Amino acid sequence: MTSTVVVGGFFGDEGKGKIISYLALHDKPSIVVRGGAGPNAGHTIKDGDKVYKVRMLPSGFLNKNTRVMVGPGVVVNPDVLLKEIDDFNVNGRAYVDNNCGIIEQSHRDADSKGQLKEKIGSTGSGTGPANAERAMRTLKLAKEIDVLEKLLIDVPLEVNSALDRNENVLIEGTQGTHLSLWHGTYPFVTTKDVTASGICADIGIGPKRVDEVIVVFKSYLTRVGTGPMPGELDADEASKKGWEEFGTVTGRLRRAAEFNFDLAKRAVMLSSATQISITKLDVRFPNCAGVTSYNDLDDDAKSFIKNIEDKLGVTVTLIGTGPRVNDVIDLRT
Ligand code: IMP
Ligand code: MG
Repeated sequence: MTSTVVVGGFFGDEGKGKIISYLALHDKPSIVVRGGAGPNAGHTIKDGDKVYKVRMLPSGFLNKNTRVMVGPGVVVNPDVLLKEIDDFNVNGRAYVDNNCGIIEQSHRDADSKGQLKEKIGSTGSGTGPANAERAMRTLKLAKEIDVLEKLLIDVPLEVNSALDRNENVLIEGTQGTHLSLWHGTYPFVTTKDVTASGICADIGIGPKRVDEVIVVFKSYLTRVGTGPMPGELDADEASKKGWEEFGTVTGRLRRAAEFNFDLAKRAVMLSSATQISITKLDVRFPNCAGVTSYNDLDDDAKSFIKNIEDKLGVTVTLIGTGPRVNDVIDLRT
């Protein structure tokens, strides 16, 4: 049995979706289960020439033999979820926990104005106001929603039973460590804890059942929305380096900066990382695009990776070298 938790180490958009898709295809988990805040998080996955942008479904759905689930700690937008299940052909193997909270129009409205929009730069998805109502004990739950009836399941029971049967389970985090409500750059944060412990609580797995924690860092830093960002580049510099990106959910230009070791160290500590994944290495080192073997990296790329391992004291096991699911150097033994 292996339970693997994958979380972001910076401000989200580290490329977790792609790493999770790779793991879902290669490690053949029987379940991929998503924790985190809600549909504020967007993952982009590229399979051949198909591009998927998911906000509610776990990114592991590309493996057709995997059941995908959303844990009870996540607030769900039923329209977004049902559309993704349909669009991506995941009918019959996608589930939500009975106790997932439900985002309604009123939450989206509250999230699209005032301080949440102007000061925090929220995604406008309704996630924060729904989580606030959950804390007030007034939020509707999935089990009260007719259109979700055939998707309902007891996620903690399913996940723990799969581990009892010695199956692999992949636990998918969203956002990134420094957007955590507890550990991030408050108030410029999301509305949940998104470190490994928070993600595990969201899906109902205890700390002693976690085998591997992979913290994912992009080769450079990006941040969408407001809040402090050490070493922020101006838009021209970012674009010259090729670090210009646009948000999956909001389409907003992401702010960019150099890889930050202080933030990375803190993320490794907060989630007790057992492995590190570095994504978008090809953006920094274009001649390693699509490389799948460590030996084929040039010396600059190798020393970039080596320096991260030395400074963080954790092994880099998965390196992203391009947008496609299999553009990965897999160093796990
Ligand atoms: P909210 O989570 O929509 O309330 O937004 C709060 C802050 O977190 C804003 O700065 C958002 O841009 C940021 N944020 C929320 N989810 C994500 C994500 O998945 N990736 C990157 N930033 C996010
Ligand atoms: Mg994203």
